[in-house]
Amino acid sequence: MAMIIDGKAAAARVIDAVKAASAEFSATTGSPPGLAVVIVGEDPASHVYVGAKGRKAKECGFSSIQHTLPGTVPQADLMALVARLNADPAVHGILVQLPLPKGFDQEAVIQSIRPVKDVDGLTFVNAGKLASGDFATGLNPCTPAGSMLLVRSVHGDDLSGLEAVVIGRSNLFGKPMGQLLLAANATVTMAHSRTRDLAGICQRAGILVAAVGRARMVKAGWVKPGATIIDVGINRIEENGKSALTGDVDFDAVSEIAGAISPVPGGVGPMTIAMLMANTMTAARRSIGDVRPVI
Ligand code: GUN
Repeated sequence: MAMIIDGKAAAARVIDAVKAASAEFSATTGSPPGLAVVIVGEDPASHVYVGAKGRKAKECGFSSIQHTLPGTVPQADLMALVARLNADPAVHGILVQLPLPKGFDQEAVIQSIRPVKDVDGLTFVNAGKLASGDFATGLNPCTPAGSMLLVRSVHGDDLSGLEAVVIGRSNLFGKPMGQLLLAANATVTMAHSRTRDLAGICQRAGILVAAVGRARMVKAGWVKPGATIIDVGINRIEENGKSALTGDVDFDAVSEIAGAISPVPGGVGPMTIAMLMANTMTAARRSIGDVRPVI
């Protein structure tokens, strides 16, 4: 039976470090780290996520400002809000909740965020810094950064000699996850929907990261005995007449084969918000010339 990787405990350790750094920042500067969260439209799931981000920010001692705009707001008004937040010295992190409603040029909005305040790590500047290994001034996307902490909790900081396979190649997750694994010296394969013999490729992986968005797609026969499995999927399924959350990995069967596995829920999920807080704290520190890492 695999070791279950406890994302809640790992996230709690990150939050403890952020709280300590936040208290120190507030005492030193006389004002707290500031996170601005922008949400456009009525999508209920997005409102749930944004509410959770705001609550966690307050728990960390941040000033958290939510800007809620109607789905009918003109693109120019949304861009003007981002420009105001870019210029506001009390705001250290800006997050525009995605997806934006249909009709918005999402990329233009994201790319207009100042890279030093881009706590989602989605601007081209931050993607480029990650690709070229500039961890000193870049900000990395939260879910890959959180997944990486879980990988490190099993394997330590140096993944030399390990083969890692990432399934999924999105800008939000797969690509940055591959870069982080590479920076830690893993030998990385990026697999995706057009990959041939996905099962055969996964069987080579000492570290297998699944971000496909299909419930229980990764089967026990795809997994090398003793491998570390990071499940990034969050899929809502109907089972026995009830709605349940499940990952991209067939957990019950795979946990008989794997060495370590992150569950859904309770694995990667809690790490995402924790890393958003860590990125905001890092951005706040850098704004006063304090370059110490938060975690
Ligand atoms: N929507 C789903 N995940 C994310 C995320 O990590 N950041 C933003 N901004 N929106 C999201």
